[in-house]
Amino acid sequence: MASSTTSLNPNLESILRENRVFPPPAEFAAKAHIQSLEQYEAMYRQSVDDPETFWGDVARELHWFEPWTKVLDWNLPWAKWFVGGRMNLCYNCVDRHALGDKSSKIAILWEGEPGEVRRLTFGELHIEVQKFANVLKRLGVKKGDRVAIYMGMTPELAIALLACARIGAVHSVIFGGFAANALVDRINDAQCTAIVTQDGSYRRGTEVKLKPIVDEALVNCPSIENVVVFQRTGSPVVMKDGRDHWWHDLMANAAAECPAEQLESEDPLYILYTSGTTGKPKGLVHTTGGYAVQTYLTSKYVFDLREDDVYWCTADIGWVTGHSYVVYGILQNGITTVMYEGAPNHPAPDRFWKIIDEHKVTVFYTAPTAIRAFIKWGDEHVERHRLDSLRLLGTVGEPINPEAWIWYQQMIGKGRCPIVDTWWQTETGALMITPIPGAIATKPGSATRPFFGIVPEVVTKEGDAVPAGSGGLLVIRKPWPSMARTIYNDPERYEKQYWSEIPGSYFTGDGARVDQDGYFWLMGRVDDVINVSGHRLGTMEIESALVAHKKVAEAAVVGRPHDMKGQAISAFVTLESGHQPSPELKDELRAWVAKEIGALARPDDLRFTEQLPKTRSGKIMRRLLRELATHGEIKGDTTTLEDFSIIAKLRESEEA
Ligand code: WTA
Repeated sequence: MASSTTSLNPNLESILRENRVFPPPAEFAAKAHIQSLEQYEAMYRQSVDDPETFWGDVARELHWFEPWTKVLDWNLPWAKWFVGGRMNLCYNCVDRHALGDKSSKIAILWEGEPGEVRRLTFGELHIEVQKFANVLKRLGVKKGDRVAIYMGMTPELAIALLACARIGAVHSVIFGGFAANALVDRINDAQCTAIVTQDGSYRRGTEVKLKPIVDEALVNCPSIENVVVFQRTGSPVVMKDGRDHWWHDLMANAAAECPAEQLESEDPLYILYTSGTTGKPKGLVHTTGGYAVQTYLTSKYVFDLREDDVYWCTADIGWVTGHSYVVYGILQNGITTVMYEGAPNHPAPDRFWKIIDEHKVTVFYTAPTAIRAFIKWGDEHVERHRLDSLRLLGTVGEPINPEAWIWYQQMIGKGRCPIVDTWWQTETGALMITPIPGAIATKPGSATRPFFGIVPEVVTKEGDAVPAGSGGLLVIRKPWPSMARTIYNDPERYEKQYWSEIPGSYFTGDGARVDQDGYFWLMGRVDDVINVSGHRLGTMEIESALVAHKKVAEAAVVGRPHDMKGQAISAFVTLESGHQPSPELKDELRAWVAKEIGALARPDDLRFTEQLPKTRSGKIMRRLLRELATHGEIKGDTTTLEDFSIIAKLRESEEA
């Protein structure tokens, strides 16, 4: 674990100086689910003193086929929630509303990038989901089988998730921006037997082709027996006989009734791969009951959901935010969820604001990176729109710098909307540290206080609590319902990575401090994970991709502060003998990483060096590289060979 105090992000530096406080707007608080700090504190105390009663009461708001016998079975680090209970998350998202009084209420409001709008009511969603569940069954997909999903943002993506959940198949969504090799790793690790994809998706006015990437990947994925292709763009694709099927053909012949499987609370719901500190992404496994309960309750209280809300989370369903807060948490609450297919600046930089006005969006949840882009694009794009339907704003994915927070609050929220800065992770499944908007005063840059039942603490490497105001490692002391249960196929790694660093506690990988009011301030990762535009990437993953290139001998990758993206990717490369640095080779290697992992992993800068600075024991001195990447000038397009050996020698004694 290498803490990078040497090169604090400018965004984080401004967080350290921040001391403004924004109480919940009175008008908002008066109508909120939780209306005061006293109410929050009383509920919080009860939730941590007696979590079983607290979570049991919440769970009873959902539909269960069989009640549980025990709320929590905790055998560190293995937790089971709602033991003995049987439920179905798809049933809770869809049937409960379609069969109740919401069959004609809009469940999914979708807008394509070219401008088409589709509205699916809970009743229609009920039928579509049952049909697709039958399609999966007919293709031989059974309970427990893994289904890969590689799609753009279409209603069919949500339908595919819900259909898997309905029959107890485990979905593994792979973000549509990942390249073929990333698909191969993930499909093979989970041994998926089917994949759902689409011909292509629209982004920034052009088609991003998906099916050809699946074709390329499947050459190396022997476990896949069936491919279902949703037709979105109509561009020509190659369909392999016997393996590939059109979504519309299969749906045309599917029966409209498929009862929801009565799943055990701990039956797996999905696997979602995320980057860690090794070269291999890990498949976090989420299960049914606990995940359902915490995504439901956090959606209800943090987004303060009301019957007439039109809720829009801009995250792609390829990330955990999309799983929990485009689909599962929101639909369980019976609320209309907006999905948008494309880029925020197509055809113009005001697309989001146009969508908000057109569909009267009331709750809007996005990433700090997007907010910084809007600021850069200019206020005039915002000022053309009313935005008067909005009542609550949220952010997620990375620390938000106070400047961006204030802009968001003023320009988008017009000072009227509370801002919820929500801290959580793929591993936590649901929100963990976040304002409750009617109850907790906000401070720009702070995720504020823990959600009910969550016990975070900032500690030293030895696990001792640090005094208020000092920085340390963020851990969670007690189990929570939506925690990932394991890493697929690798329980040892789960135990080692999350539960051994600070024995007895869950180690988040984040640095944080707590102020005198008990507010948490997140300070970024303390491990080798970097956060580029809110997307989590492992430096080792990028290094592995680089060294897979035949001209590369060694590579080291670090994050450096970046005004817009939070962090940028800096790569240092040594070449195999016989190869010379050149601008062409630099481009080739950057493109190579994009091809191997996906465009999101393309290094922002790449420098050739004769050797990497290392300690005597052979460990790459990342701290030094971070310093160089941050402060070392990169002059124009130069590819001058940099020789770090001298600096390395100078610093060696310090590091060794
Ligand atoms: C970072 C995304 C500061 C953090 C939901 C965490 C944040 C990682 C915040 C998880 C926030 C997420 N403030 N940092 N509000 N939210 N992070 O798994 O470093 O893609 O560990 O989950 O994002 O990223 P992941």
